Amino acid sequence: MSRRTILTTRLKFEPITWADCDRMAVLHADARVMDLLKHGVLNRQQSDAMVADYEAEWSAFGFGSWTVTERASGSLVGYGGLRVHDGGFGIALRAAFTPEAQGNGYGPELGHTAATYAFDVAKIDRVIAITRRSNIPGQRSLEKFGMHREREWTTADGRILVLYALCNPKAG
Ligand SMILES: CC(C)(COP(=O)(O)OP(=O)(O)OC[C@H]1O[C@@H](n2cnc3c(N)ncnc32)[C@H](O)[C@@H]1OP(=O)(O)O)[C@@H](O)C(=O)NCCC(=O)NCCS
Repeated sequence: MSRRTILTTRLKFEPITWADCDRMAVLHADARVMDLLKHGVLNRQQSDAMVADYEAEWSAFGFGSWTVTERASGSLVGYGGLRVHDGGFGIALRAAFTPEAQGNGYGPELGHTAATYAFDVAKIDRVIAITRRSNIPGQRSLEKFGMHREREWTTADGRILVLYALCNPKAG
């Protein structure tokens, strides 16, 4: 098994590859999963382009995004991981789960796993996450694995965003 594939007690994290394009298209098309993410729902063409980017990011950076499978059921329950933020904020943690899977603590489990990978394997000293102030589940999930709120601001289109951060405790 690749070092990039990670097992926790309940979940299996596998780097997203082109082989995931069909099932990622299903997640990307679901407004209940995607509405709170920056780019929102993706159509098939947009989803395929995103999956190609996710695969390329693993090769380019040595970190990236995983599919998340529930080990007990074998079901794909979400995806997320580490991505260079396009707004210049650094390396961002992202997470999105199906409505049926939300509320089980999978978000913090993914966040903790991704942050540990960032610090111990990818040698990144700081990870951030950006969420809407209205997304309370998103904020609770980040706080549960130790991220702290740094600041908030209002975007040009009126959305209030909150920046969370976590630094590698082992970094000097
Ligand atoms: C945000 C998200 C990643 C959190 O993951 P999670 O596994 O649901 O996290 P938790 O189970 O730890 O739940 C966090 C809190 O939100 C609550 N919650 C989770 N899902 C909820 C939902 N659909 N509706 C209302 N509350 C919810 C939980 O009860 C919990 O509250 P508590 O801390 O007071 O007990 C997940 O809910 C999700 O994928 N949401 C849609 C996409 C999204 O918002 N992504 C993050 C964008 S920054």
